[in-house]
Amino acid sequence: MKGVSVRGISKSFGNGAVLQNVSFNAEAGEFVTIVGPSGCGKTTLLRIIDGLEEGDFGEVRIGDRKVGGPARECAFVFQADSLMPWRTVFDNAKLGMELRKQDLASNKDRLQELLQLVGLGGYEKYYPRQLSGGLRQRVNLARALAVDPDVLLMDEPFAALDAQTREIMQKELLRIWATQQKTVVFITHQLDEAVYLADRVLVMGRKPGVIADDISVPFDRPRELSLKRTKEFGQLVERIWGTIETVIRETGGI
Ligand SMILES: Nc1ncnc2c1ncn2[C@@H]1O[C@H](COP(=O)(O)OP(=O)(O)OP(=O)(O)O)[C@@H](O)[C@H]1O
Ligand SMILES: [Mg+2]
Repeated sequence: MKGVSVRGISKSFGNGAVLQNVSFNAEAGEFVTIVGPSGCGKTTLLRIIDGLEEGDFGEVRIGDRKVGGPARECAFVFQADSLMPWRTVFDNAKLGMELRKQDLASNKDRLQELLQLVGLGGYEKYYPRQLSGGLRQRVNLARALAVDPDVLLMDEPFAALDAQTREIMQKELLRIWATQQKTVVFITHQLDEAVYLADRVLVMGRKPGVIADDISVPFDRPRELSLKRTKEFGQLVERIWGTIETVIRETGGI
């Protein structure tokens, strides 16, 4: 298990600065969520952690290793459905392993166990078109977990799901994470999702993107969905809303 250390990352594209001196640590096994207004650089930050994009300044470390180029320790789960329609659930789930040239024969049982773990037992031979949105995101999660990454990078993975399915997936993700010992960096626009999942919530400001606040979430685990309906939970969400409102006011519009 390895943690993530982001140190002094700045990044500009042609149209100006996107990230400015962003630093934070995610300890090994920690679940960190990132919230912030649209365009503040969340996806860019995640891509830099993954080594898909390079910072202009600063560095990212995963464990002791400095990231330069695509990081093998990381696996990415996107918002968009990135399944291949002509492949079955099983074949989609093994795609990441194929791309990394991991031995499939010796990992077949493990992949089967993973599909069980994410709730896809019995769906191995289904095609994506035969699955609901929630099930499709479970396949994406299985694919990411299959390469046994130290770090899961998740960019609004549940954004396209309806409210009930989304809640179920949040609870499922926590259950799965509890068995898997992964460091998670998870981006969301939904504050209750950010608080429910996280050990820590980072609030990003923008123009350019900075970490405006770093909030520890005190609730015990395992967490029931009913936690979201408690007063303490509501108060923490309110506090984060306040920070985001300030950020938006200070940086103008949304
Ligand atoms: N490859 C690129 N080339 C030029 N500009 C880019 C590129 N990638 C991102 N940007 C710009 O960087 C800024 C931050 O984009 P990014 O996608 O990281 O924001 P975000 O916080 O993830 O937004 P959202 O919440 O809407 O997903 C935006 O202004 C975007 O247009
Ligand atoms: Mg984004």
